Amino acid sequence: MALSQKNLLGLRGVSAADISEILNTADLMKVILASNNKKTPHLQGKTILTVFYENSTRTRLSFELASKYMGGVAANMSASGSSVAKGESLVDTARTLDRMASDVLILRHPMTGAPHLMAKHVRASVINAGDGTNEHPTQALLDMFTMKEKLGGIAGLQVAIIGDVTHSRVARSNLWGLTTMGARVTFAGPSTLLPPELEATGCRVTECVDDAVREADVVMGLRIQLERQQKGLFPSVREYHKFFGLTPERVALAKKGALVMHPGPMNRGVEISSIVADGGDSSQYRSVIDEQVTNGVAVRMALLFLLTRYNG
Ligand code: CP
Repeated sequence: MALSQKNLLGLRGVSAADISEILNTADLMKVILASNNKKTPHLQGKTILTVFYENSTRTRLSFELASKYMGGVAANMSASGSSVAKGESLVDTARTLDRMASDVLILRHPMTGAPHLMAKHVRASVINAGDGTNEHPTQALLDMFTMKEKLGGIAGLQVAIIGDVTHSRVARSNLWGLTTMGARVTFAGPSTLLPPELEATGCRVTECVDDAVREADVVMGLRIQLERQQKGLFPSVREYHKFFGLTPERVALAKKGALVMHPGPMNRGVEISSIVADGGDSSQYRSVIDEQVTNGVAVRMALLFLLTRYNG
C-alpha cells in the first residue's frame, strides 16, 4: 500500500494505479468508520495541519476528523484570525508551518496554484483542498469512491456534470479523475459557464441539459455561484432552475438507477430541487449526496494514511 507521489496537488496526471490505491484503501477506512470504535493508530505520531484561506464545512471537518480517528495530531489555521490577516505572505506562512514539524499540510486557497507553491517550501506532503477554479482533487476522489461503491466500478460510466463548469474546481478534478479511470464525461450548462477549452479534452459539451442527462449513469449538479448572476453570466435564478436545474422531470430522463450527486453546499431550488436532493438512495431519484459526505471522511482517511507512508 503506497502512492507513487508525495503530494496530492490535483488529479491531472495522477495514474489510475494511484487513484485505485486510494479508493481501495478508502473501502477499508469506510468499514472502520461504520464500526463502534473508529480509533486506529494509522497516524500515531503524525501532525496534520489544515490551512484554510476560504470557508469550508465538509472538507475541513472531514480532514480533521480523519486525522483524529487515526490517532494523529490535528490543528487548523484559518486566514482570518492568523497572521495572514496581518499581511503575511503564503511563502512565509509555508516556511513558518514547515518549522512546526508537520507531516501533512492541507491547503484551501482562492489562488490557482497556491498548493503547488506551498509544496516548494515545505517538507510535509501537501494536499490541495481546493485552489481557485483549478482543482479540488479530494472531492473528485470521494465522488469516484461513491460511484464505485454504488455502481460497482467507474470504467464505462456515463457521467453528466451540469452547471457552472467555468468556475468549478470540482468539475475539473472530476474530468481528470473520471477520464483516467475510463468513464465518459458530458458537461452541460449555459454557454457562458462552459469554458471553450473543454472541447479539447475530448469530453462531450452541450448547452442542452436534457441531452446530457439522457442515458447518464451519474448526474452531478454543480453549485451555481450566485454572485455570477450580477455579471450576466446566467439568466434569473428561476430561469436557471427551469433550463439547467436538476428537477424531478429532468433527472427522470437518466438511466434507471442513475445516481444524483452534488458536492455541496447546495442552492436548493436553483441548481437542484429539494425533491431530488432529499430523495435518498432508495428513492426514485437515487440521491447519494448525504453518502458523499460520509465517503469524504473515508477517502481523506485513506489519503492521509497513504501519504504519510510515502518514502520516495
Ligand atoms: N464540497 C466542498 O468542498 O464543501 P465545503 O466547501 O463545505 O468543504
